[in-house]
Amino acid sequence: MSPPFDLLVIGDANPDVVVGPLPDTLAFGQREQLVPYGRLVLGGSAAIAACGAARLGLRVAFAGRVGADAAGAFVRQALAERGVDTGALTVDPELPTPLTTVLTRGADRAILTAPGTLPATGPYDVPERLLAGARHVHAASFFLLPRLARALPELFRAARAGGATTSLDTNDDPDGRWDARLLAPVLRHTDVLLPNAAEARALAAALTTTGADGGTGGGPRTEDGLAATAALLAGHGPLVAVKNGAEGALAHDGTRTWHTAPVPVEPLDAVGAGDSFDAGFLAAVLRGEDTARALEIAAACGALSTRAHGGTAAQPDWPEAVGAAARPPAPSPAGADPGPDPGPGDPDAPHHPKQPHHPKQRNDR
Ligand SMILES: Nc1ncnc2c1ncn2[C@@H]1O[C@H](COP(=O)(O)OP(=O)(O)OP(=O)(O)O)[C@@H](O)[C@H]1O
Ligand SMILES: [Mg+2]
Repeated sequence: MSPPFDLLVIGDANPDVVVGPLPDTLAFGQREQLVPYGRLVLGGSAAIAACGAARLGLRVAFAGRVGADAAGAFVRQALAERGVDTGALTVDPELPTPLTTVLTRGADRAILTAPGTLPATGPYDVPERLLAGARHVHAASFFLLPRLARALPELFRAARAGGATTSLDTNDDPDGRWDARLLAPVLRHTDVLLPNAAEARALAAALTTTGADGGTGGGPRTEDGLAATAALLAGHGPLVAVKNGAEGALAHDGTRTWHTAPVPVEPLDAVGAGDSFDAGFLAAVLRGEDTARALEIAAACGALSTRAHGGTAAQPDWPEAVGAAARPPAPSPAGADPGPDPGPGDPDAPHHPKQPHHPKQRNDR
């Protein structure tokens, strides 16, 4: 029997107050500055990814923690309106819901987050029935959720033991510590790692300076350097899909590299592009697409999400994502040709995530 959910997303959910674009500088001294735009939208990497996946047609459950306040009620309603199951959204009786203010300035943004319930979010917020009842488990905002992060190796191990695949988008580390001792054990149980380029470099550097690799960490800031960084991360276990903003994205499985060119858009707001990319990659893999195609569809989802302010307003549905991703894959640099994806039946396939042949993965959606 098919598990009740295609995807369980674990992590952060909060209101984002998006205001901007900011004039040149942010003025203090109790000055009031007017900006043309302000909206209250659903934020949090995990919440945006969950909504993106639901929009793409997956059956999605969310596990996380909010406060007993208006912000928490807003989060619950926003998730539910987008078709995400909120039965495992715990209400903390004491701590407030996290709140984020996003100040935009051109393509850039400053992000201020009051963590509220995030540090209190832990493994007890992830019901066993959901871990055992999803085809795939995705965790986001690793470094914002230290208690959950410490338990994630065990949660992912249990999910895999139940037949699910797993993925992780660490997002940024506000402390800049990129604690490899926290990260390395999780990667051993992670099928797909989904950092952006800067995060990939930071993660690789952290894993390297602990002596695990003996290499030079992040590598040069070129496309080849980024592929080398992804390869280094893939050496810790997962398939690595690296998001690179307007440059597109690449993936590495430790042996082969895949590149995808950006889908052309007039970006209005890049908030949540990475989370929408995650949703697209996971939806494609869970629908049985190979890595090359999943990367293209993910890049389309990321690009299309930038058409509106906030993380979820412009997320595409499946036909729109597939249509936007319809171009042939960009050629890989000489010597890096990934060749055809090994597909489900190839016994010599490298340690690829248990892709279409995974017992809980259905190809019929
Ligand atoms: N300006 C753009 N043009 C085309 N595609 C884009 C653009 N911005 C983002 N994308 C697509 O979306 C993907 C994810 O974007 P990005 O690299 O900004 O992720 P991120 O930094 O993780 O974002 P987030 O703020 O959600 O964490 C990119 O890899 C790319 O495919
Ligand atoms: Mg991101």
